Amino acid sequence: MIEKFYTYPLQRHNTFGFEVNARCLIKAYSTQDVLQLRNDKDFVGGTRLVMGGGSNLLFTSDFDGCILQPLLQNISPESDAGTTARLRVGAGVAWDELVEYCVERGWHGLENLSLIPGTVGACPVQNIGAYGAEAKDVIEGVEYVDLESFEVSYLSNEQCRFGYRTSIFKQELRGKAAITQVVFGLSRQPRYNTSYDSLSEMVKQLGGESLRNVRQAVVATRRGKLPNPAELGNAGSFFKNPFVEASLAEELQKKHPAMPSFPSGSGVKIPAGWLIEQCGLKGARRGSVGVHPKQALVLVNYGGGTGSEVLALAREICQAVHSRFGVTLELEVNVV
Ligand code: EPU
Repeated sequence: MIEKFYTYPLQRHNTFGFEVNARCLIKAYSTQDVLQLRNDKDFVGGTRLVMGGGSNLLFTSDFDGCILQPLLQNISPESDAGTTARLRVGAGVAWDELVEYCVERGWHGLENLSLIPGTVGACPVQNIGAYGAEAKDVIEGVEYVDLESFEVSYLSNEQCRFGYRTSIFKQELRGKAAITQVVFGLSRQPRYNTSYDSLSEMVKQLGGESLRNVRQAVVATRRGKLPNPAELGNAGSFFKNPFVEASLAEELQKKHPAMPSFPSGSGVKIPAGWLIEQCGLKGARRGSVGVHPKQALVLVNYGGGTGSEVLALAREICQAVHSRFGVTLELEVNVV
């Protein structure tokens, strides 16, 4: 059974903590609930948004439409034989709860993605990633309700067209799909990935490679750099790390020998955090909003700030980075 609310306060539903309202919010607990919305006058025809944990959204004003929150809570093992543990997981499960579930059972693949805020249903949309791992490495497929035909569809990993912080759900299916279930394939055999930065050193200090130790090292690293949204409003990385052409990267590297850079495919990835820091904006504050003092890629709401203020700061950052380095930053968060 769906639950429906009008003039719904979103402060606790967006990790920036902005005080905005939705005209209507619908909580759906099953695929049937979502399918039933084909007859819902508030949902069909109007402006709508599917929301997970609200950890990647920037509201610039009240939302004059209908928000759908898929809250399906199942973690259902599909097969537990052979080398792969296959799981069907409801869109409403908290991401880190799933990571803990898998670590506890000795299933490999999610541990590097520990502590990422948000829900399972949101993870394929932007192909969440951290510490050398991405959701696409373990997603076998995604089930969703097509919000035009109100039919249930399934896309395989390949059909999801995952890329760096993107997928078909951010492109062609943007606003047209409500993800209900994600199918994961996890390795029952040890498969560690601790090559990222200081991770292997920290894992060694904790006593060597184990799922628990990798999870603990990732949690400690995140806690050291990234603000906890429950304490300080933020949406994680506000910008994507830009890919630039090899020729521009080379030119920049000559001028700035200390610039970190990561060749990838035909281009080079440059950390946006570094570019922002070089512009002197790390820790900058504009009224109630600012750039986090420990990680320049994260914009924060110190309390009472608005989405428009954050957006104005983001524009200032983009301009500063562009005029100093000739590099264009793209937003990672979704502006509503
Ligand atoms: N750096 C700076 N200054 C800063 C921030 C970073 O110089 O203020 C430099 C670091 O010294 C390092 C490089 O940038 O050389 C990379 O920094 P870090 O390892 O902190 O990662 P990131 O590229 O800034 C990305 C993801 C994060 C993820 C980390 C770890 C994106 C947009 N962000 O950040 O993801 O946790 O790697 O894997 O790709 C998120 O998406 O919300 C998120 C937090």
